Formats: sequence, structure tokens, C-alpha cells
Amino acid sequence: MITIVVPTYREAGNVSKLVDVVDAVMKDAKLEYEMLIVDDNSPDDIVEIVAGLANSFPVRLIQPNGREKDLSLSVVDGVREARFETVLVMDADLSHPPEMIPKIVKPLETDGSRFVVGSRYTNGGSFDRDWSLWRFFNSYIATMIARPLTECTDPMSGFFAFNRKLVDLDKLRPIGYKIGLELMVRGEFSGVSEVAIQFKNRKVGTSKMNFAQQWKYLRHLRRLYLHRFKGWAEFVHYGAVGASGFIVDVVFYYLSQFIGFEHQIARAISFWPAVSWNWALNRVTTFSERQRRPKAKQWFEFVVTSLIGFSVNWGIYFVLTSKVPFFDSYRLIALIVGIGCASIFNFTASTLFVYNEKRAN
Ligand code: GDD
Ligand code: MN
Repeated sequence: MITIVVPTYREAGNVSKLVDVVDAVMKDAKLEYEMLIVDDNSPDDIVEIVAGLANSFPVRLIQPNGREKDLSLSVVDGVREARFETVLVMDADLSHPPEMIPKIVKPLETDGSRFVVGSRYTNGGSFDRDWSLWRFFNSYIATMIARPLTECTDPMSGFFAFNRKLVDLDKLRPIGYKIGLELMVRGEFSGVSEVAIQFKNRKVGTSKMNFAQQWKYLRHLRRLYLHRFKGWAEFVHYGAVGASGFIVDVVFYYLSQFIGFEHQIARAISFWPAVSWNWALNRVTTFSERQRRPKAKQWFEFVVTSLIGFSVNWGIYFVLTSKVPFFDSYRLIALIVGIGCASIFNFTASTLFVYNEKRAN
């Protein structure tokens, strides 16, 4: 017994065919099912079409209202209303071959604790070759950056099955397209099983994937990294911000000299744009999930901790190179030790004081 959840937006031209084929497959495999079509109020005649289909098939339309239009949230709405424990999610556009449904739920019969993914990249899987190089490149990069989060070769897949008892729907915080990845990372599954599928390009309608979705994906990934790797994810992000601040520092250092300042003065000037850059970027990216605090006060605290951090940095360099002969011969190592200790100090001060008041991820 399976609940099939199908999110739709402008898929009026695809659902009849989908329901027809799925029904035949399920009858063939002697599987009982219900299909929930979760539609984000598409401006087409999906309501009439599903009403017609509901006369002959176990199909139901869910049209949520109130929340923002979102593929992942639609899937969550569908799972919430599922009558059966086994839930399978698939696209409406026939990209996911319905004849694979029985094979995708099969591993759950022997071990219901798995999360099963219809995968294009596992042995035997494929996608239509007429993908543009751009789409391929995008999909490849998107897949690679998600790999550390799961053992799945196709973490982007929108074709998957699982036991809904193993997910706490209220703990999910998806945004955008990658609800499968969200479930893999936050669900209580014993692992991911993959079933090879042949992904087909849609024949009717158009993809809703766009730049806004890709941006949402990056935000979504950040959340999942924070959830899985906690403070380590923040530390790495903080380090990357620091590296970009270093570039700002150097640019202003030369710029100030170019307009006529002495190099010592230039050094003192360039600190300010760099530290402000770091503060702002940490505010809107590294610690974006945290509560916003008044800007001026927070900037000031950040400057103070950065100055202390710089003293730590410089002090360590000074002590090591003047007291320890080894470091005097290898000054670069002393410099790195100084930067490392200052980074740990800065990060600790930032995470505990400057950007405190953590929210859940
Ligand atoms: N309810 C709802 N709300 N459904 C939506 C929305 C939305 O905002 N946006 C898209 N959908 C539905 C579509 O109608 C379709 O049934 C399914 O979600 C997938 O959307 P497509 O627009 O066809 O996406 P795609 O083909 O570019 O992406 C598919 O392949 C990717 C891998 O290449 C999806 O399966 C992705 O999840 C997958 O990563
Ligand atoms: Mn599609």
C-alpha cells in the first residue's frame, strides 16, 4: 500500500497520462495505492482534470492556500495527508518512469528503515543525452556540493520512497526543490538505497527550475551543512569570509597609497573597510540564521574583537620570533600560528558574543 505524492505546477497537460500509466503499473504489480496531487493553485484547469480522473482512479487534489508557492513545502503537505505509511514522491512530467515505482518501493519490503532513491548516476542509471552542457554542468556542480551530506550518488533526485513514520515533518525546514535531500539528511533512516532509473526529458510543459531556485538551493545547503556539521560549518564559512576580507584589505592598502598616503597610514586605513566587510558578510551569510542585533553596536563589538584578535596575532608572532630560535628561522610558521590562534579567538568571540542568540537549524 503506497501513497504517491506528485507536486504540480502548470502540469494540466501531463497528469491524465501520468495517472493512466501509474494505474496500469500498480495494477500489474498488484499494489494498492492512492495518488495525491499537490498543486500550488496553477492557472490552468488542473482542478477539473483531477475531478474527472477521481471518478475512475484513487486520485485526490490538494491545493494548499496561505503558504508561499514551493515545491518542497508541497511535498511536505502531501506527506502530511498520506493515508499509507509508505510514501513515494515523483514529478508529474513523466521524467520519472512510472514502471520503476514497484522497484523503488521494493527495498522497503525487506527493510523499511531505508530511504530509497531513483538514481540517474548509480550503475545502470541515465539521463537523456540532449541535456545542454549548461544544464549538465549545473546539475553536476549541484550534486558534488551535496555529496558530503549523504552517501547517495544522486542527492538531487525528486523520485524517492520512504516510510513516513521515520520523519518528523515539523522538524523539516526545506526551501526550494531539494526535498529529497532534506529528508535524507534529517530523517531517521538507516541509510540510502539506490535504484537505477532512466530519467527522461519532459515532452509537455516547461521546467520550473530557474536562477531563483538555484539560489534557494544554496541557502538550503547551508542549513543542511549547519545541521550536520554544526560549528565546523560555521568555522569554515567564517574562514572564507576572513579570506575575502583579506583581499579587501590588500586592495584598500594599495588604493590608499595610490592616492598619496604613506604605507603605514595606508595599513591603518585599510583595516576599516576590511573589518566592516567581514562584519557585514558574517552578518548576512555566516550567521544569517541568528537574530539580528542593532547594526552600529554589533559593528563596534566586531571591531573591538578584531583588534584584540589582531593583537593576539601580532603578539604571538612577536613572542615566538623573539624568544624561540626555531621560529626566528621559520618566521612564516610563526605568522601562520599567529593567524590560526587569532582566527580561533575571533570566531569564538563572534559566535558567543557578537552574533549570539542562536536559532535552530
Ligand atoms: N506544487 C508545486 N509547487 N509543484 C512544483 C513547483 C511548485 O512551486 N515547482 C515545480 N513543481 C513540480 C512540477 O510541476 C513537476 O511535477 C515537479 O515539481 C518537478 O518540476 P520541474 O520543473 O519538472 O523540475 P525539473 O525537471 O527541472 O527538475 C527535476 O529534476 C531535477 C534533477 O535534474 C526535479 O525532479 C528536481 O527535484 C530534480 O532535482
Ligand atoms: Mn521536470
